[in-house]
Amino acid sequence: MKLKLHRDFITSEAVLVPVFKGKLKTEIPEGIRKEVEYLIEEQKRTEKKVSALHLMEGAVKLLVLVDFGEESKLDVEEVRRRSGEGLKPLKEKFINNVTVLYTEQATLSNKSFYQGITEGLMLASYSFNNYKSKGKDYTLEEIMYALVPEVDIEELSDQAEESDILVEATFIARDLVNEPANKLYPKTLAKIVEDLGEEHGFETEIFKKEEIEKLGMEAFLEVAKGSKRGPRLIVMRYYGAGENEKILGLVGKGLTYDAGGYSIKPTTGMVNMKTDMGGSAAVIGAMVAITKAKLPVNVVAIVAACENMISGKAYKPGDIIGSMGGKTILVENTDAEGRLTLIDAVHYAKEIENVNEIVDIATLTGSQAISLGTERAGVISNNDHFYGRVDQASKKSGEKIWRLPHDEAYKKQLDSPIADLRNIGGREAGTITAGLFIGAFVGDTPWAHIDIAAPSAVEKAKHYYTKGATGFGARMLYEVAKLG
Ligand code: BES
Ligand code: ZN
Ligand code: ZN
Repeated sequence: MKLKLHRDFITSEAVLVPVFKGKLKTEIPEGIRKEVEYLIEEQKRTEKKVSALHLMEGAVKLLVLVDFGEESKLDVEEVRRRSGEGLKPLKEKFINNVTVLYTEQATLSNKSFYQGITEGLMLASYSFNNYKSKGKDYTLEEIMYALVPEVDIEELSDQAEESDILVEATFIARDLVNEPANKLYPKTLAKIVEDLGEEHGFETEIFKKEEIEKLGMEAFLEVAKGSKRGPRLIVMRYYGAGENEKILGLVGKGLTYDAGGYSIKPTTGMVNMKTDMGGSAAVIGAMVAITKAKLPVNVVAIVAACENMISGKAYKPGDIIGSMGGKTILVENTDAEGRLTLIDAVHYAKEIENVNEIVDIATLTGSQAISLGTERAGVISNNDHFYGRVDQASKKSGEKIWRLPHDEAYKKQLDSPIADLRNIGGREAGTITAGLFIGAFVGDTPWAHIDIAAPSAVEKAKHYYTKGATGFGARMLYEVAKLG
């Protein structure tokens, strides 16, 4: 993908014209002026945010008008979303180059407005066609900006570099989630991470079953043991701030498949469970971005990758298992497996990698989908200050979150008469009790848990999301590291 900044209007096959509640702020080149006026009139009638016109004559084949709404109320994420919508007519016609008639506006800095448009268009251009023998892949090859004289090209080029990195990170995460579980399993995921580390410059270490046993990760291994495909503990390290500085730990749920185990999922609930490694995908994407941007921070990312399956060797409801942190757990439901892998990953992060703060991200509960849907991830945190940082990061990336309560009272739902904890908290407040279960192994370390069960994948394309994986979290985690 090429991003080009120009002062003049150089024609691409498509031209994108920003308007603000029907009001034009740019000078329109002579050749397309009448057509733009026509579209503005049409948009007034239909009240659509995006409208398009195919042109029969001249170099420009497609004119797209994107209405960003009231100028005084502009926000970067809304700009991303509307620009993402704006790519639709190009995608339909397989047009892969566009000129944006850039304009200044009253609310956002040029850097932010430009970031919103660029990321919206680029994120919406994603497609996953690794397994279709016929049909062509859409790619967006070039975005050209025709800039007015007041706009500083230098400033925008810096942003272009960062936006490019963020989109690449998101695409890596989407690709990983979209890969089916017969292709992407712990061993192949580990290999991909090793290759990414080599390519981009973060260190990787992969632990196999015997080494995971030596570490004492009993809960993780209990989940993994029902599958023929062995588990992998994947560790990624990037020290951009020197040895003595603090280390941020990123922990991603990496269930490359979740059949539920003996508490088996129904057919409809199982069909999409290749996506149960969305948290690890976000963490891996973020590591690539952090490394590429050379952020001056230390980050260690951990993925306890395995499959949750049924077999003669699998763990069973009613089993009492151990954990790396030493607590015993009554397994009341083998489908609440993510938290079992995460507690050992979190403990490992603290005790072996010496991280000082932790974000874990996971497709953890169906309840998250019920309570918040795909629009916002649910967050549990033990630290207001650290939550504030995650919240700020989320506002920057536009991946929205909502903090859930973490009262002591909810913790009681995890009490068991015969073990230190049980792995489910009953029907009520499922997202909260799942988060608090992990929290029981975190101690006082500043920590935030992000449940992305619903936002990690969507059934239908919307704004800059394409059907399937969204890559949710990769950009946010980059911002959390950057704010560190
Ligand atoms: N991977 C699922 C959660 C999930 C559900 C992710 C739907 C994406 C879409 C998780 O392992 C799970 O099965 N959780 C159970 C927990 C319950 C048994 C307490 C759930 O939410 O039903
Ligand atoms: Zn499950
Ligand atoms: Zn799961």
